[in-house]
Amino acid sequence: MKALIASGGRGTRLRPITHTQNKHLIPIANKPILHYAIEAAANAGIKEIAIVHNADSAEVPTAIGDGSRWNVKITYIPQETPGGLAQVVMLAEKFVNGDEFIFYLGDNMVVGGVKRFIDEFKASKCNCWLTLSKVKDPERFGVPEIVKNRIVSVEEKPKHPKSQFAVAGIYIYDRHIFEACKAIKPSDRGELEISDAHQYLIDKGFSVGFSEITGWWKDTGKPLDLLEANRLILDNITPHVSGEVDAKSTVAGKVIIEEGAKIIDSVVRGPVIIGRNCVIEESYIGPFTAIGNNTVVKKSEIEYSIVLRDCKINSVGIRIEGSILGNDVEVVEAAGRPRVHRFMIGDQSRVEVA
Ligand code: G1P
Repeated sequence: MKALIASGGRGTRLRPITHTQNKHLIPIANKPILHYAIEAAANAGIKEIAIVHNADSAEVPTAIGDGSRWNVKITYIPQETPGGLAQVVMLAEKFVNGDEFIFYLGDNMVVGGVKRFIDEFKASKCNCWLTLSKVKDPERFGVPEIVKNRIVSVEEKPKHPKSQFAVAGIYIYDRHIFEACKAIKPSDRGELEISDAHQYLIDKGFSVGFSEITGWWKDTGKPLDLLEANRLILDNITPHVSGEVDAKSTVAGKVIIEEGAKIIDSVVRGPVIIGRNCVIEESYIGPFTAIGNNTVVKKSEIEYSIVLRDCKINSVGIRIEGSILGNDVEVVEAAGRPRVHRFMIGDQSRVEVA
């Protein structure tokens, strides 16, 4: 069993963060999203992983490396132009070389790993294995139609979904998927849709089985999805404090405070992760917040937010909540009179003021 991980695309719904950073490298609980996919494959005993990435950027290969830190071998496959997930699969035909493989969309996150799905696929002797998750908005996803516990059709982003399930971005295949990907034609949005490849397999009589994901699963395509994934990962952290907490501070609940971080006269109420060399002073850091390395928070309150590295937050009068701050962002009190908001904000940013 090999693994193929997709990390291409432009992440348009996560701008402005994705103007300067590949969406798969945005940290969730201070760890790039893509790490979770690699860990899932490594924990399932997979040793050979290919990552398909945008050909015009070495960002993913540079950030992820050769895989030795996970004890796996990572091969990089550049994708010249985004042409859909079935195209991503075709690019990996040589790498896969006739083996069975798991195809994992690098922006998907699932709790509990993928070994259970691989075991079920193997036991079933199916040609293709889909993972399904019940969602409120199936029209955003690939949607299966299920009759008598069998998938009888799969449609990509249907206007009238035939079930409450989304096909999650974790698929397991044997070599027949390549025949399917080669046979299909681009959809109206100009992409070779993976759902059409699944439909081809069904039409040709190949066996397509499925597991239902009963725990949580997230496709982190939108800002709120990132905050929710962050919340869910933080909920499961193992607390440890390597930084310093002074006597005037209170740290409660599941909290990770990394080396070199200083908590001074503050309240930290977990689940929270505070990165290396942060300074938190006269502040409140509330549940479901991740603070990246080297960030300084003074005289401010933050809750249910993702703050990346090297930020400065100082004397913000109202609690910051449900927010995502990129790298090197400053949110500080405007000095002097009159009292004003003063903005220096890049393209496609969003600010809500009270
Ligand atoms: C893709 C697939 C879709 C699947 C989803 C899961 O959608 O085309 O079938 O349900 O991933 O994350 P996209 O992220 O391209 O909108």
